[in-house]
Amino acid sequence: MIIIKSEREIELMRESGRLTAMVLDMLQEEIKPGMTTGKLDELAEAFIRDHHAVPSFLNYAPKGDPDVTPYPATLCVSINEEVVHGVPSPKRVIREGDIVSVDCGVYKGGYHGDSARTYVLGTIEEKVQQLVDVTQECLELGIAQAIEGNRLHDISAAVEEHARSFGFSVIENMVGHGIGSELHEDPAVPNYGRRHTGVKLREGMALAIEPMIALGRSRKAVSKRGGWVAVTEDGKPSAHFEHTVIVRPGKAEVLTRSLLEHGAPSGRS
Ligand code: MF3
Ligand code: CO
Repeated sequence: MIIIKSEREIELMRESGRLTAMVLDMLQEEIKPGMTTGKLDELAEAFIRDHHAVPSFLNYAPKGDPDVTPYPATLCVSINEEVVHGVPSPKRVIREGDIVSVDCGVYKGGYHGDSARTYVLGTIEEKVQQLVDVTQECLELGIAQAIEGNRLHDISAAVEEHARSFGFSVIENMVGHGIGSELHEDPAVPNYGRRHTGVKLREGMALAIEPMIALGRSRKAVSKRGGWVAVTEDGKPSAHFEHTVIVRPGKAEVLTRSLLEHGAPSGRS
């Protein structure tokens, strides 16, 4: 069941979305080669709690699956071939030349915000830079379809077509989602699909749109030894961008936009 948010609820979601963006802005300034992913996580958790909010991912356990261990951190930090759900660690060092996808969820005032960006550290191969840029463009093209009267898979198709036109592959077994008082609500928002199909989008639907795009041929992210982290099958790099948006007539409202002057990264100035 898709929950339509009232303007009062959207007001509250604006606050959790804004705080989520502030965390990613802060990390964008702090992230440096030599730093550990554990340190990033510490910075994020302290920042969130200082702002009287709670990390959405910490202790998160998917419903109806008693076997998975609850997620143990504030952030997901996924480096290079890691697609999503990289668990931060004081032993994992970020290096010059890495692409680092950071995903953050913030719970405040009864509602979640969820957003991700892929940070580029130093000089990287042109093709990898293009992957990062194109993934961010995929997100923006998806958002442009999140308008009243369109259908859900108009978002999916926009993401898929753009990624494929560059020869990149869409990770199909990980999806975006509805969001609100729960981190994951209906509907699932796939990053591939056919235009003019899927549920009709209505004003007040809140969606986390999150393309995960890979450089190689991998269409799946697979977990490593039963852990949380999911990697590409061929070890090629993958990028991830995510925004929490409200479906509106004409133009979606993005709740997790960067507040930095130059906006979200991707290495472009
Ligand atoms: N943005 C991701 C998602 O929507 C992060 C979830 S991490 C988890 O699924 F720990 F909460 F699972
Ligand atoms: Co999400």
